[in-house]
Amino acid sequence: MKAITWNQGKVRFIDQSKLPLKLEYIETENPREIVDAIRKLRIRGAPSIGVAGALAIALVAYHSKVENINNLAKEITNWIDEIKKVRPTARNLFYALNRLENIVSKHLSSDMNKFRSEIINEALNIMEEECKYSKEASEIASQLIENGDAVLTHCNTGPLATVDYGTALGAIMEAWRQGKRFKVIITETRPLLQGSRITAFELKAERIPFTLITDNMVGFAIQKRMINKVIVGADRILHTGHVINKIGTYTLAVLAHEHGIPFYVVAPTTTIDVSSNIESIIIENRESSEVTSIMGHQIAPPDVDVWNPAFDITPPRLVSMIITEKGLIKPPFKRNIKRIIGCSKNPHL
Ligand code: MRU
Repeated sequence: MKAITWNQGKVRFIDQSKLPLKLEYIETENPREIVDAIRKLRIRGAPSIGVAGALAIALVAYHSKVENINNLAKEITNWIDEIKKVRPTARNLFYALNRLENIVSKHLSSDMNKFRSEIINEALNIMEEECKYSKEASEIASQLIENGDAVLTHCNTGPLATVDYGTALGAIMEAWRQGKRFKVIITETRPLLQGSRITAFELKAERIPFTLITDNMVGFAIQKRMINKVIVGADRILHTGHVINKIGTYTLAVLAHEHGIPFYVVAPTTTIDVSSNIESIIIENRESSEVTSIMGHQIAPPDVDVWNPAFDITPPRLVSMIITEKGLIKPPFKRNIKRIIGCSKNPHL
C-alpha cells in the first residue's frame, strides 16, 4: 500500500485525512489537486510531502500546453515557488523542489520533449530514492529495538508518511518482522490525530499490538516505567542536531531526558538541512479550526483565541542518536552530522 504512485501522467494517492474511517484513493492529472492535498494533509509526512511536490511538478511538465521551452521553464518555476510556501517546515519538500529547480536552470537549451522527460525522470528518481533511504534508515534503527522493550512513538512516521517503509514506525515494523517482541505505545497526536488515526491504522494492518494514549499521558506512563525508549521521525534536522518535528516531540524529549531513557530520531539524510540556522526556521502555523474541532466536530466555544504551531524544536542536548540511511549519528551532532553529510555524494544536501 504505497502512499503515492505515478503512472503515465497520473498521480494516485491515499487521502490520509480520511483514515481510518475510509481508505480512499484519489487519482489526478491536475497539479493543483496535489498542492491542495499537501496543504490539507491528505498527503503528509516530510518524505511524502517532498515526493508529492516533485510529482506535482512532473504533472506540470507532462501536461503543459505551452509551446516553447522558456515558457515551460517559467511555468515550472512559478509552481515550484508556490509549492514551497504550502508547508514551510518539512525539509524534504525543499530538497525535492531544489533538485527540480536545478534541472530547470541547467537544461534550458535542450529541446522541449527532452526537458519534459528530464523533469519527470528527476521527480521519479526523488520518489525512488526517498523510499530507499527510508527503508535503509528504518532497517538500521531497528537494531536499537530489543526484545522486551516498551517503545513510545509520536505522530505518524510509517509507510504513508514516507511513500513506503517509514522511519521511526518503519524501525518498529522492521524489528517486529525480525521476530523481536516488545511493547509499542503510540500517542494520539493532537490536533490532527496522526497517531490515533494513521499510526494505529498502519500497526493494525501489520498486526502489531500497541497501546494508544493521549499526548498528556506520556509523563505518567514514563514515570510508571511503562516506556523505556522513545523513537520519533523528523521534519527537519539542522546541522547543529536541532530536531524539528511534530508538536509535542520536545515534551517527549524533555521527559525522556528527565527519566534517563533514550530519545532516538530516525530520518533519511534528505531531512537534514545543512545551511539554515535555528533563527531562520519557519514553524508552520495552522488554522485554529484544527484545535477547536475534531474531525469536523466543533469542541470549543466559537471565537476562542487559538495558537496552533504544527511543529516544535528539540535541542541537540536532548537527542540520544539520529539514525539515517548512512548510519547512526551520535553526539556531538555538529561534528558528526558534518562527517556523514560531508561524505555524501548528493550535491543537493
Ligand atoms: O504535519 P505532518 O503530519 O506532516 O507531520 C508529520 C511529522 O511530524 C512526522 O513526524 C515527520 O514528517 C516525519 S515522517 C517520516
